[in-house]
This record gives sequence, C-alpha cells and structure tokens, in this order.
Amino acid sequence: MQISGSSAVVVGGAGGLGEATVRRLHAAGAKVVVADLADDKGKALEQELGVRYVRTDATDEGDVQAAIAEAEAAGPLRISVDTHGGPAIGGRLVNKNGEPLDLAGFRTTIDVYLTGVFNVMRLAAAAMARQEPADGDRGVIVNTASIAAYEGQVGQLPYAAAKGGVVGMTLVAARDLSPLGIRVVTIAPGTFLTPAYGKAGDQLEAHWGPQVPHPRRMGRSPEYAALVQHICENDYLNGEVIRLDGALRFPPK
Ligand SMILES: NC(=O)c1ccc[n+]([C@@H]2O[C@H](COP(=O)([O-])OP(=O)(O)OC[C@H]3O[C@@H](n4cnc5c(N)ncnc54)[C@H](O)[C@@H]3O)[C@@H](O)[C@H]2O)c1
Repeated sequence: MQISGSSAVVVGGAGGLGEATVRRLHAAGAKVVVADLADDKGKALEQELGVRYVRTDATDEGDVQAAIAEAEAAGPLRISVDTHGGPAIGGRLVNKNGEPLDLAGFRTTIDVYLTGVFNVMRLAAAAMARQEPADGDRGVIVNTASIAAYEGQVGQLPYAAAKGGVVGMTLVAARDLSPLGIRVVTIAPGTFLTPAYGKAGDQLEAHWGPQVPHPRRMGRSPEYAALVQHICENDYLNGEVIRLDGALRFPPK
C-alpha cells in the first residue's frame, strides 16, 4: 500500500509511540491527523509539521468520527494507527489486606485500553469501506497491544486483560474486513523509552535495559514507527500480532 498521498489518523498521536509514528508517516508523504487529548503537544505538532490535530477521546464515538472526517477531507483514509494510552489501575487480585481488586477501576482500564481500540477500529474501517480500493486494497489498521497480553506481571491484571483483548480482536477483525480489502495488524511492544517518561526514563532504562536479551536496552519510539511503516507497505501482513521486544519476556514481577 502506498503511504504517499494517503490520509492517516493516529489516535494517541501526541504520545511517545504516537508522535514517532506521526513523524514517520508524515515524512513518507501521508496526510496525518493527530487524534489525542493532549492539546499542547497536538497543537505543537500541527505547527511544526503542518499535520492536523483534532482533540479526540478514543472511547467517544463522535470524537473519533470527527477525527476521521478531518482525515477523509484531506484525502482517502487508508491508514489508521491506534497508540492511545490512558489511566490503568494496578494491584493484586486480592491485596495483603484481603481486599479484592477494584471493579470500577477494572472497567475504566478496559474502557480505555480495549473499548477505545474497538471504537477506533470500527469507525476507521467503516470510513475505509466507503472509498474506492486501490489494487484491491482499501486500507490498513494498526493497533497497539503489549507483551503484557501474554505475560502480564503481578499487579497488571486489568491492563493485561485489555491488551489480551486487543490481541484477540486482531485475527477476527482481519477476517471480518477481508471482503473490504482492509488489513488489521497489531504491534505488541516490550518496554519502550519515550519522552513521556521524562527523568524517570533513566531509572526505567536501568531497570529494564539489562533484562532485554538483545539489544540490551529499552526500545525507542522510532523503532515502533518503522514497523508501522513496514506494516503499511507490506500487503501480505494481515491478521497478525507482531512482538517488538528484543526477545524480552516479562518475569512474574
Ligand atoms: N511505552 C511502552 O513501553 C509501551 C509498551 C507496551 C505497550 N505500550 C502501549 O503503547 C501505547 C502508547 O504508549 P506510549 O508509551 O506512547 O504512551 P504515552 O502516554 O506517551 O502516549 C499515550 C497518548 O494517548 C493519549 N490519550 C490518553 N487517553 C486518551 C484517550 N482516551 N483518547 C485518545 N488519546 C488518549 C495521551 O494524551 C498520550 O498522548 C499504549 O497503549 C501503551 O499501553 C507502550
């Protein structure tokens, strides 16, 4: 699929992995819409790159539709990348005081990290379905899971459940959308050092870096963005979850 001339929406595009993706797709010639809740960062990207920023809550139907409409106005929407984050609760299923993990917090985590991805995917696919195919392809949807989907750590149950849901949606979405010529691929990152961590990044690198078999460091957001570009351009990648983790497997703690 040709990136140049396509429209792309990047949900969470003002975040660490998202910004790198916005820059990469923009450099490859896509007309990019940054859909995020971080107004300052989104507007700064708008100013710097000439991309469009649309304030968007991934879990909100109207917001996502507005971001997609903005992308469609710029050209055929062929790329939807979802890298949004948000609040996630943590804690053991039963804590040291014998209290069960909070139900409302679990629901919030699922809403942001799973329902939000579903919302973006369904609305992006419907928009892609409205346009003419190019060589049989209408577009590609890239989701972001985590290796926590496979080996969630102690205290990560809600997040792992949501990311497991993103993994589970990938093949069935690709099957559902195959008659429309729309591909669906999910990236499951290991630990990535992004600017969002600020000074805490050094501590994270010191903790995680030595645990990664090779390269012995955290991932960098341009490495994530490079994979997004490859997924867009490689028409035979579909229905797959790709781990991007330097062979890291999360230990229990
Ligand atoms: N960084 C890592 O090590 C890592 C590892 C595995 C998975 N991931 C996943 O990758 C994704 C991006 O991670 P990141 O490190 O870039 O995070 P980040 O915090 O830097 O960026 C997330 C972005 O999402 C935006 N956002 C928050 N709630 C939103 C909402 N409801 N709707 C739209 N946008 C919203 C934030 O404003 C922010 O710009 C997340 O889903 C995260 O779980 C990250």
